[in-house]
Amino acid sequence: MADGITQAAYWNGEVGQRWARNQAVLDAVFSPLTDALFEAAGLRAGTSVLDIGCGAGETTLRAAAAVGPEGAVAGADVSAPLLAAARERPMPAGAAPVAWVEADVETYPFPPASLDAALSRFGTMFFADTQAAFANIRAALKPGGQLTLLCWQAMAANPWVSVPRAAILPLVPAPGPPPPPDQPGPFRFADGAALEARLRAAGFRDIVRTGLRVPVTLGRDPETAARVACELGPPSHLLREAEPELRARALASVAEALRPHATDGGVQLEAACWLVAAG
Ligand SMILES: C[S@@+](CC[C@H](N)C(=O)[O-])C[C@H]1O[C@@H](n2cnc3c(N)ncnc32)[C@H](O)[C@@H]1O
Repeated sequence: MADGITQAAYWNGEVGQRWARNQAVLDAVFSPLTDALFEAAGLRAGTSVLDIGCGAGETTLRAAAAVGPEGAVAGADVSAPLLAAARERPMPAGAAPVAWVEADVETYPFPPASLDAALSRFGTMFFADTQAAFANIRAALKPGGQLTLLCWQAMAANPWVSVPRAAILPLVPAPGPPPPPDQPGPFRFADGAALEARLRAAGFRDIVRTGLRVPVTLGRDPETAARVACELGPPSHLLREAEPELRARALASVAEALRPHATDGGVQLEAACWLVAAG
């Protein structure tokens, strides 16, 4: 995903800027997954919450609304452009104050035992050292505090990624071998048992992992959905270097592949995540 560059450089560069510009589109695609995350997190009024890898802040603001004015919420991310987009968003009425923190959550010195809850929508798969990062988060949580996270299951279980990818692959140079295990990337925690082992080694004890399979809507029609897949989804890295002519052919090919998935409610394909709660 970020060959040879750090995650901070990756998310502060073109990718972070593209995500920041398209924050509303991504939030709409992920909305059924976000609902499941918040249901599992069960945030209570007046509590303190950390949003890990908060990006453009959708989940941070929702947490702030959930805990209300007596609560406290921090959104932490390494990406300046995504945090800038987050800061510009209006605060929901009656929300907790939000601190936007530009920081690497793996090493940031959070006050020990200060948080009631930590949550993350797809923001925990990119640490240099997962176990160290989870240990840092565990230390920041109060005893009894809960981490609730969403991460992707394997690509093969995620047709919203694999279908567009298969349509692009014949048009581009063959990608290199899959990355070695445990490298930062969207599918790093595909092996849910290995993720649980990392959490346990970092000091978490009560771990509940649930498989979540829901349709996500990539766009109202195949052309819109193809743009979302090619510009924002994991297959976008295949087209990072593509000239306009190749990009146009890829978009057309992806739109054709997505056409059978068009419904009255838009172009829908299944997404598979792990929803993990750990105390
Ligand atoms: C896939 S995006 C998800 C963003 C956001 N949670 C959302 O759902 O829209 C991953 C996020 O993790 C952030 N990130 C990656 N490594 C990080 C780290 N070590 N500390 C804090 N944030 C990190 C990235 O900058 C990016 O915003």
